[in-house]
Amino acid sequence: MNYPSQRVALPYFMAALLLFLGQILFGLIAGYQYIDGTFLFPELPFSVTRMIHTNLLIVWLLMAFMGAAYFIVPEEAQTDLYSPRLALITFWVFFMAGALTILGYLLVPYAHLAAITGNAYLPTMGRGYLEQPLPTKIGIVLVALSLLFNITMTLIRGRKTSLNIILVGSLWGLALLFLPAFYFPVDTVKASYSWWWVVHGWVEGDWELILSSLLGFILIKTTGVDREIIEKWMYIIIAMTLVSGIIGIGHHYYYIGAPEYWIWLGSIFSALEPIPFIMLIVFAMKILLKRRREHPNRAAMLWALGTPLMAFLGAGLWGFMITLAPMQYVAHGTNFTAAHGHLAFFGAYAMVSLAIISYAMPLLRGRPANSQRAQRWEMTGFWIMVISMLGIALALTGAGLVTVYLQRMGDHPMAFMDVQDRSQVFFMIREAAGLGFLAGLITYLISFFIPGEYHYDQETRRALS
Ligand code: HEM
Ligand code: HEM
Ligand SMILES: [Fe+2]
Repeated sequence: MNYPSQRVALPYFMAALLLFLGQILFGLIAGYQYIDGTFLFPELPFSVTRMIHTNLLIVWLLMAFMGAAYFIVPEEAQTDLYSPRLALITFWVFFMAGALTILGYLLVPYAHLAAITGNAYLPTMGRGYLEQPLPTKIGIVLVALSLLFNITMTLIRGRKTSLNIILVGSLWGLALLFLPAFYFPVDTVKASYSWWWVVHGWVEGDWELILSSLLGFILIKTTGVDREIIEKWMYIIIAMTLVSGIIGIGHHYYYIGAPEYWIWLGSIFSALEPIPFIMLIVFAMKILLKRRREHPNRAAMLWALGTPLMAFLGAGLWGFMITLAPMQYVAHGTNFTAAHGHLAFFGAYAMVSLAIISYAMPLLRGRPANSQRAQRWEMTGFWIMVISMLGIALALTGAGLVTVYLQRMGDHPMAFMDVQDRSQVFFMIREAAGLGFLAGLITYLISFFIPGEYHYDQETRRALS
């Protein structure tokens, strides 16, 4: 870290971790409501716990991406951030808007919230992940504009590396792809189109570019491998992402009332979507093997290698299993989808956020790496979270398969609630794995409070200076 203004990333990262903890607590409540349907009803119904769980996810990931941008863009541009003060004001606006929105969800019935926030004038509320009231959505746009202004000005003023241009460009993409959230027509086909432009456009398009830039940055910094090699890989991965992901959106158009050719287009192109994830693994492995120095932050290296592996499992493999039209025909909207959603969101975007936090946090706190003891706590947290998430995903896959076989196939399909009863054991396993995940997260968070700095030998110190 070379510029004092990069320090504004700190509150973003801290808030991200706090909201992550909140996300998991609400996930556990929602998960328990699968076991006991009356738990906390009517004070805190499933519809609300689920919405807070997914909304906190999106908000903490955005917090982490923004923190990453404020940290990386000045470093790459070799100049201070254009306006650290604006970045700090923006942080508080975003944080307060997020907190008020969650309070709104908790304290006011959703329909009433819609009525008092002007949803009648421009309907936007009610679609998954995009449940936020209109003022919050407008707030998100303003926060994004402020971020974009700040980092674009920094980029213009400083050194223009490919990595930085890709990062800033993909953050512009993130903001632009949010705009369809304001288009929510009565026509359900059109409403589905615009919903997927945001959701699919983000996770299977634009955010993959953010993922590659964050990973590329960490790898450049920790391995000392030439940036030309790393940037070349990023170009190929990004090209593959866009080639497969843009038309691959057709895997959401199969049976929603869209033209039939999407069955073929969606199946073929989305079947190619795992390729960039495989390339990410090869990329990270190759660069790590080529490394020219042993960076003392071993935890950051673990996250940087774990991210592409888990992203491939969740997005590439679990995504592939449900993506072909005949499979979607029976698996659509089952817990199989939730298994994929969990493993992919965690493996790709949660983990890359934790990777950049792992790399940047020690620097923000004035040292290249944490003590070995702190890193051991962090890496233990890594393993517990990763293994628990695999447990959650396998349990949900089991529940999904029960639905596919008993409710969607055969001559005598069972009723929905009967199938839910038969899936109980999987919901219990999911909840147990969820508790494990919470334990892993707490272990990880404790690592920040273990004092001390890495003990350097002469050689490492020289390499780092
Ligand atoms: C990191 C990248 C990805 C993330 C975070 C992600 C996340 C998700 C989530 C959360 C859903 C559920 C949306 C809902 O609420 O209805 C979903 C649906 C879906 N995803 Fe992904 N996904 C990713 C990549 C992929 C890839 C690469 C494929 C294909 C190879 C894929 C195929 C699908 C399909 C077919 C559905 C629709 C399932 C259904 O409606 O039942 N996803 N994804
Ligand atoms: C303690 C661990 C967790 C538990 C118990 C849990 C539980 C749940 C539950 C019960 C739902 C609602 C599913 C439904 O509507 O039927 C849900 C949805 C979701 N959760 Fe989690 N969750 C956990 C961790 C996570 C993590 C770490 C992530 C991502 C980083 C995540 C991402 C999501 C997403 C994207 C959805 C919406 C996907 C869908 O419904 O298809 N969750 N979770
Ligand atoms: Fe998709």
